[in-house]
Amino acid sequence: MAGELSPIDTAKFVAAKRACDFVENGMKVGLGTGSTAAWLVRCLGEMVREDGLLIKGVPTSARTAALARDVGIEVMSLDEAKWLDLTIDGADEFDGDLNLIKGGGGALLQEKIVATASDQMLVIADISKQVDTLGAFPLPVELIPFGWQTSKALIEEMLSAMDVLGQRTSLRMNGDAPFVTDEGNHILDLHLNRIGNARQLAMTLNQIPGIVENGLFMDICDVVVVGYGDGRVEVRDINDGTVQEDRINFVESDNLFFDLMD
Ligand code: A5P
Repeated sequence: MAGELSPIDTAKFVAAKRACDFVENGMKVGLGTGSTAAWLVRCLGEMVREDGLLIKGVPTSARTAALARDVGIEVMSLDEAKWLDLTIDGADEFDGDLNLIKGGGGALLQEKIVATASDQMLVIADISKQVDTLGAFPLPVELIPFGWQTSKALIEEMLSAMDVLGQRTSLRMNGDAPFVTDEGNHILDLHLNRIGNARQLAMTLNQIPGIVENGLFMDICDVVVVGYGDGRVEVRDINDGTVQEDRINFVESDNLFFDLMD
């Protein structure tokens, strides 16, 4: 079954599989959201069911919580866990300093809270997510529905003074209605093309009334596990500057796909 994966899914899967090596018995683990994080949750579920791995997972979205329960991972809230050993999540972009854009799946708020409440944040990503400079992926900003058009106007005015290449913004839609996050908010996507000073932009955005959080994750990620379509993985650690190369053999992983066969 695993041999039928596309190169992009293979890359996501091998990154997720390699990241499982960081998970140890007794850990409280933040579980990310998105297609790459879903592979991680399936892999961890297999380790729980078949190897007796004892962990508690703190999901970053309702859909990750549902998947985690489906595959047998014990789920708890962040308030119950209070602090986590490790969070593993996907990303829409990562740069050489392991700063990120996240929120393509609309879960950036819980993702940032959970990652920040962890001893270590590990990102799993296929190589297409690597960039020299953040910003080609539209930057998601979560804002409350009340007065969102005023917040949008304030953001656009602020952007005209920022080191960015584009200034267009768009309200994320779900069919004909605005997309609604797990927290009941909306997402404004900022089409910036290139962000010259991501740190400044992240801080300035969060000062605008109505903005709950933005998708720039600065100085939060410690390690990225990069997957390739041919099964290779690289583990890059920003703190000790190391890069480990590896290859994942996934012939044993048929059970990971049981929840995809409905
Ligand atoms: C969810 O809100 C996002 O932050 C995801 O982590 C990000 O969009 C990566 O998703 P994929 O793994 O599906 O590319």
